[in-house]
Amino acid sequence: MTVLVTGGAGYIGSHMVLALRDAGRDVVVLDDLSTGFRDAVPGDVPLVEGSCGDAELLADLLSERRIGSIIHFAGSIVVPDSVKDPLGYYLNNTVNSRALIAAAVRAGVGNFIFSSTAAVYGEPPECPIAEESPLAPISPYGTSKLMTELMLRDAANAHDIRFAALRYFNVAGADPDGRSGQSSVRATHLIKIAAQTALGLRGHLEVYGDDYPTPDGTCLRDYVHVSDLAQAHLLALGHLERGGDSLTLNCGYGRGYSVREVVEAVKRISGVDFEVRNAPRRAGDPPALVARADRIRAELNWSPAYDDLDVIVTHALSWENLLQRRAAA
Ligand code: UFG
Repeated sequence: MTVLVTGGAGYIGSHMVLALRDAGRDVVVLDDLSTGFRDAVPGDVPLVEGSCGDAELLADLLSERRIGSIIHFAGSIVVPDSVKDPLGYYLNNTVNSRALIAAAVRAGVGNFIFSSTAAVYGEPPECPIAEESPLAPISPYGTSKLMTELMLRDAANAHDIRFAALRYFNVAGADPDGRSGQSSVRATHLIKIAAQTALGLRGHLEVYGDDYPTPDGTCLRDYVHVSDLAQAHLLALGHLERGGDSLTLNCGYGRGYSVREVVEAVKRISGVDFEVRNAPRRAGDPPALVARADRIRAELNWSPAYDDLDVIVTHALSWENLLQRRAAA
């Protein structure tokens, strides 16, 4: 049976498509290309341009393409944007996910993998964060994703559908073979911004806050390589296809790096000593977000291949270089 990847033209979705193809699976992508790129989807993978909220399109797609599993990445991901436009985020992330889940139930698609986020924990009282930690998102983005987790839980209780919700920590890096990477025009993520600064696309990098209660005063994050993340989805897919129970799992390595450590790694690996300025804290940044990472390894037998900040940074820099060369050509 074919796997439908929504948001397969985006950053994480395109790595998922590569992992599925590498595993010899049939894949179809659904993407509205609002932030994704047509050329992020390999030429031999069908790309259907449309929205997850389009019930008619979904019904046709699920039956005509003989979809057996859905991996759902399509969504809006910029936390500050969600604060400015909460209803837009609830529409795209929650309402459209509801339409997709309903279409899956109607069509008898039994396996659903959902791209959730550490943002469902808000400002966690304890770090590393276990899956049982209180669910207390502090942004509409986090709430919009949590609502989808809850819909999946309830749909799985009522209908013949099982799910895996993977709560991502900080996804970074790029395909080791240079086939995909983060291409977003409006980058907000630290490693991408640092790579762009090292390549001279930005004059300087701002560190948002250096007075947090952390060892060097800057925020700690658990950076996970995008290709390891795609492998975790592949394992979750196998688990569901074998009839395994629904799962909700953190997806991180369980080790935090500070903003300063990341910046130093990018400087060292690129060999460029770019300018770094201290700036005020960014609203809504928790001081530390690090996963309790044992459950995903135990449940899915996940053994990451790129659990190394230097490797993540090296791949991010290579991708940024490639984008720059393409732009110049
Ligand atoms: N940062 C800087 N300067 C920059 C960019 C980021 O200092 O130019 C800092 C941020 O303040 C933060 C850290 O680098 O402390 C990481 O920031 P990112 O924007 O890269 O990532 P976030 O931790 O904000 O975002 C991640 C996920 C979201 C998720 C969120 C939950 O990408 O999907 O965690 O807080 F919602």
